Amino acid sequence: MTSGVQSDDPMVRLLADRTRARAEKDPCANLCTLANIDTQGAPQARTLVLRELDDQLAVFINTTSPKWQSLLAGPVSVVVWLPSIQLQYRLSCQTAAIPQHTVHDSWHMRPEPPKRMDWFYSEVAPQSSAIGDRQRLLGALEELQLPQPLTPPASAHGLFLEPESIERLHLGEDNGIHDRQLYRLTTTGWSVTTLVP
Ligand SMILES: Cc1cc2nc3c(=O)[nH]c(=O)nc-3n(C[C@H](O)[C@H](O)[C@H](O)COP(=O)(O)O)c2cc1C
Repeated sequence: MTSGVQSDDPMVRLLADRTRARAEKDPCANLCTLANIDTQGAPQARTLVLRELDDQLAVFINTTSPKWQSLLAGPVSVVVWLPSIQLQYRLSCQTAAIPQHTVHDSWHMRPEPPKRMDWFYSEVAPQSSAIGDRQRLLGALEELQLPQPLTPPASAHGLFLEPESIERLHLGEDNGIHDRQLYRLTTTGWSVTTLVP
């Protein structure tokens, strides 16, 4: 299997590989696993939609979530696994808040249920808080009055992921020996080291 676009810039490679994975209808093409250390010092990881905003990586997160402050403070670790093309990326990133108007432009394109959830987080109960049972959740969502015309709540937010290192592991080499490249961001650009896979 081809090992993809050759470039000295791992972001170019990652974006090209995600485009290839989308063409292969890879169910993971638009996803990542984002890990951090929470305020108690415990490791946490979760699946998120990994977005591209003007070629910058981004995730959308509600600020009512307990993870928001930790993720905003950074650093975070991101894993992208693209099974259709046998590629794993691991990124170490700092984060930066996305300007709210950028998040809100995309917010309008979301389906109705997540839009309603975003309002629920700010008006009724924050994300990850305990709620008696599912019926209570559904009832409160039903009763929730949404603003008309529909606008995003201030808590609908997002983070740019700013990679400092990117490791690319290709499992699909013809000879069966995996190809593992570690890119580090320096003051003059990306440096690359080949690692034992
Ligand atoms: C396919 C998939 C995509 C998801 N995308 C998002 C997302 O973009 N933003 C988000 O906050 N949670 C998303 N989630 C939910 C998170 O994985 C997680 O359950 C939620 O954010 C609460 O995580 P926390 O307890 O670490 O705060 C997604 C889950 C799945 C399975």
